Amino acid sequence: MDRYAVFGNPISHSKSPAIHTEFAQQTSQSLTYEAICAPVDKFAASVDAFLADGGKGLNVTVPFKEDAWKMADICSERAQLAGAVNTLYLNDQGQLCGENTDGVGMVRDIQDNYGYDMAGKRVLILGAGGAVRGVIRPVLEQNPREVVIANRTLSKAETLAELFAPYGHVSASAFEALEGPFDLIINGTAASLQGEMPTLPEGMVHTKTWCYDMMYGASQTPFNRWAEQQGAYQQLDGLGMLVEQAAESFYIWRGVRPDTAGLINQLRSQIL
Ligand code: ATR
Repeated sequence: MDRYAVFGNPISHSKSPAIHTEFAQQTSQSLTYEAICAPVDKFAASVDAFLADGGKGLNVTVPFKEDAWKMADICSERAQLAGAVNTLYLNDQGQLCGENTDGVGMVRDIQDNYGYDMAGKRVLILGAGGAVRGVIRPVLEQNPREVVIANRTLSKAETLAELFAPYGHVSASAFEALEGPFDLIINGTAASLQGEMPTLPEGMVHTKTWCYDMMYGASQTPFNRWAEQQGAYQQLDGLGMLVEQAAESFYIWRGVRPDTAGLINQLRSQIL
């Protein structure tokens, strides 16, 4: 049986084994998928050992996405721009290929699952860390009118705005200098993890604004609570993004696209 895995540290919480096992059953693919906790300073050696042992491909999560990017022989343009890789596999020539499916997964969740078209929209992205860097290019591919990246540390948002300027209308802002309203607001800060929400000026939201938190949890995230209080039209979380990025990896490895809707519903009922 073909062997796949997710590498992270810690990794016991990962839903990827359950997700990929479900995809494999659904599409009648013969494979195993396990969770591997690699030592923090031995990611590359752990991956080499896995591949030497017949591993066909792997997902990479915190804190190894940048190591995976550095390790790949070839990276897609998206992964190159993201500076992070969440999907590795060997091609026919035995080269280690790196892809980043996080952004595609998020865009597919917002656009296909929820039916929101980003074209022509004014988009605000909160945060300028690794998670945000991975989604900017796929968002720009949808032709939004404008993307504003706002971050607590302004210089990091400015660096990203410069990096992605060739691909669309992107600018950087400090939180307090933001001028709303926006049509779509995406939260990619890690603030939700600490139960926090950055303070934003009034007027970010209008009656049709959609808000999307890349995080998810059993209860409403602080960002989505803020969105509701501000009167946003929708407050969505990133559970669908998790399943969609996995589906994209599965497609890269196996050439078949699993159905995601049923699994998203199933996971939703499990976390509640
Ligand atoms: P990740 O891989 O999750 O993106 P990261 O690269 O460490 O993690 O980035 C974390 C992001 O969340 C950053 O944009 C960070 O802001 P700074 O660049 O100013 O550090 C943001 N962040 C974390 N905690 C935050 C908080 N309490 N309020 C606002 N932003 C926060």
